[in-house]
Amino acid sequence: MSMDFTDQRLSYEKGELDQQSVPESPFELLNAWMIEAIEQNVQEPYAMSLATCGADNKPSVRIVLLREMTDTGIVFYTNYESAKGQDIVENPHAEALFFWHELERQIRISGSIAKIDADKSATYFQKRPHDSQVGAWVSQPQSGEVANREVMEQTFVQLQTKYPEHSPVPTPAFWGGYEITVEKIEFWQGRANRMHDRIVYEQDSSTEAAKWMTKRLLP
Ligand SMILES: Cc1cc2nc3c(=O)[nH]c(=O)nc-3n(C[C@H](O)[C@H](O)[C@H](O)COP(=O)(O)O)c2cc1C
Repeated sequence: MSMDFTDQRLSYEKGELDQQSVPESPFELLNAWMIEAIEQNVQEPYAMSLATCGADNKPSVRIVLLREMTDTGIVFYTNYESAKGQDIVENPHAEALFFWHELERQIRISGSIAKIDADKSATYFQKRPHDSQVGAWVSQPQSGEVANREVMEQTFVQLQTKYPEHSPVPTPAFWGGYEITVEKIEFWQGRANRMHDRIVYEQDSSTEAAKWMTKRLLP
């Protein structure tokens, strides 16, 4: 059954973005936009689409949760043996995207991607709720086929017996964080008449201090 959305359009008029007044560091703007998203009650503003592409050259995209913004990049946690984990082994580059409808904003972050320290992953894993920790053990290998839901639920119950409430759940070696080291960020602010503002930051590798350069892109 086909559906036609060609008459559906919104005019975006909630803000503007000016190349002359953006901060020198994209991290400053990223922080400011994230704070605004939280203050404006964007639901799960830290949920981001993560695009990877393995050796087959076929892009894959899925949502993951941003868990930390560092001085160099953004961190999320997952199963290292998942489909995305395999893509990253084959091609250690990724792009993350946030879309905050309430603010008519989109942010695209791309760069190289690498596992974070195992100790840091373990610290975060041990902070998670007990049953989420058990769930990480059930979903191994994440993205692998499972015969049916009952198989998953039986494994969950078996592991809950093995690791009862209040007993520590070991951090799986196959689970942990990745950091995308930011090489490029685009901030997009929707405007009326499809005249959107797009400001891109890219690091200028020709300078020693690796200064961030900005440019405006056509919408
Ligand atoms: C709101 C939301 C948050 C999610 N957060 C994560 C996450 O932080 N880590 C993760 O591995 N998967 C997360 N998922 C599940 C992924 O979208 C995806 O199904 C899973 O990671 C397997 O992806 P892959 O087969 O491409 O590796 C989330 C899904 C949604 C809808």
